[in-house]
Amino acid sequence: MRAKLFTSLAIGVLGLLVGLWLVRPPATRANGDKHDEKGGHAHVPAPLEYADVHVPLSVWTDAAMIARGKEIYTTRCAVCHGDQGDGKGPAGVALPLKPPDFRAKDGVAEMRDNYWFWRVSEGGQIEPFKGKGSAMPPWKGELSVDDRWAVMAYQHTFSEHHGPHVPWEHPGSVAMGRDIFAMACVPCHGVAGKGDGSVGPMLAPRRAPQPRDFTSAEFKFRSTPSGQLPTTADLFRTLTEGVRSSGGPLTIGLRGQRIMPSFRHMPVGQRLEVLEYVKSLNRGFRELGVVKTVTVPAPPTLTPERLTRGKQLYADAECMACHGERGRGDGPSAPTLKDNRDLPIAATDLTRPERFKNGARPEDVYRTLVTGLAGTPMPSYADSLELDQTWDLAYYVLSLSRGGQTAETGSR
Ligand code: HEC
Ligand code: HEC
Ligand code: HEC
Repeated sequence: MRAKLFTSLAIGVLGLLVGLWLVRPPATRANGDKHDEKGGHAHVPAPLEYADVHVPLSVWTDAAMIARGKEIYTTRCAVCHGDQGDGKGPAGVALPLKPPDFRAKDGVAEMRDNYWFWRVSEGGQIEPFKGKGSAMPPWKGELSVDDRWAVMAYQHTFSEHHGPHVPWEHPGSVAMGRDIFAMACVPCHGVAGKGDGSVGPMLAPRRAPQPRDFTSAEFKFRSTPSGQLPTTADLFRTLTEGVRSSGGPLTIGLRGQRIMPSFRHMPVGQRLEVLEYVKSLNRGFRELGVVKTVTVPAPPTLTPERLTRGKQLYADAECMACHGERGRGDGPSAPTLKDNRDLPIAATDLTRPERFKNGARPEDVYRTLVTGLAGTPMPSYADSLELDQTWDLAYYVLSLSRGGQTAETGSR
């Protein structure tokens, strides 16, 4: 009863917060102010294809890279951007939309590394720059990734900032995301993103899951191998879909409800901004130059043979120990499971795929099995299952809601 009351209270408070936020989009511009509004360029968030291209920290201060960048800059960029980086090159002054002044510290500070790389790669051929008549050429066809990094490192020297170009040196680069975070995420994820907001304990008193600690290395919902941080697209998917409570014997009141709300009504640009802020809380996101993801091949056809093999694997791989013989989350080990905060955690009731947190298409379950859910007892099976076995098992898991049968052979 008490738990129910708490739950409805928590959901009420949340609804109110989200509601308030929706009717009145971030009005506190004081911190989230953009250079754009002061007559500069729109430093919009980089799109998902570029969001994970973080420049390795060492590049910004590497003398050899800067020298290589200077050569490239002089021959290819100075004609518009000017030898001094002031935007007053001979071809630049004639343009209706002028190149920016790279000596302006505020403007450069606000430009994130992935934005910078995106702009050098795609130039002004993309919105919102195309619509404004930008003459900035795309360079991805002519300059290698390293060359683009080198020219950025050189361009960066015009601002006279000598350290690496990262958010903890330039808090202004994540200001708008910080405002959104304060309004929409702090109640659960906490002021510093450590997962210790006041609403968390109301969602699940003294049990898992608690809101994620963004400063830790363990993220659940990933397309990256075990032991790695998620991609921005992974974070974006979670933010858009929200997370449902999985049910299981320990869950009261919240079964099937969202314990993390869906932010699908938040404009895409704002979702990307808030995720840039989330990533700025964890330096691990800057450590990998290139992010590797797990490839999920096209799902094979479901056959009764696959289910038979999947059933055997389900027993052999000891899924049963936690998830139970019929997948109800009631295996012999289930009552003893703890998460990385030492809180009791339920083994998912696999007969309710509509509640799955990581998605319930065959390819989603496949991904869950390959990556595991870090910070929980759910392991990664990347090393112990063959590709084809992973499909057998994924299909078997999804058949548990039908008592372990294919739809066609349901009466067998
Ligand atoms: C033909 C002229 C021209 C050349 C050549 C050129 N640019 Fe640009 N660049 C522009 C203009 C105009 C803008 C401003 C409009 C925009 O943002 O698209 C711009 C914008 C940029 C921006 C975005 C700055 C911001 O504040 O958003 C970057 C980064 C940039 N250029 C880098 C380069 C680099 C690196 C080179 C050489 C490899 C280069 N540009 C060559 C004209 C040029
Ligand atoms: C009602 C509380 C609540 C609010 C508000 C909330 N979250 Fe969450 N969030 C959670 C919970 C609880 C989890 C953990 C779910 C789990 O582990 O099963 C979570 C997990 C996440 C994850 C998944 C990380 C991973 O491990 O893969 C991301 C990303 C995330 N939240 C981002 C956000 C952002 C950004 C905001 C604000 C725009 C936000 N959340 C607002 C409760 C909330
Ligand atoms: C040591 C216990 C344990 C074992 C063994 C285990 N799991 Fe899990 N599994 C869990 C827990 C705990 C969760 C829930 C994590 C959460 O809610 O954050 C989970 C979650 C899942 C999910 C994700 C559901 C979602 O919300 O997206 C699937 C699918 C799954 N397990 C299938 C399997 C299969 C198949 C096997 C055997 C190959 C297996 N599990 C082995 C403990 C285990």
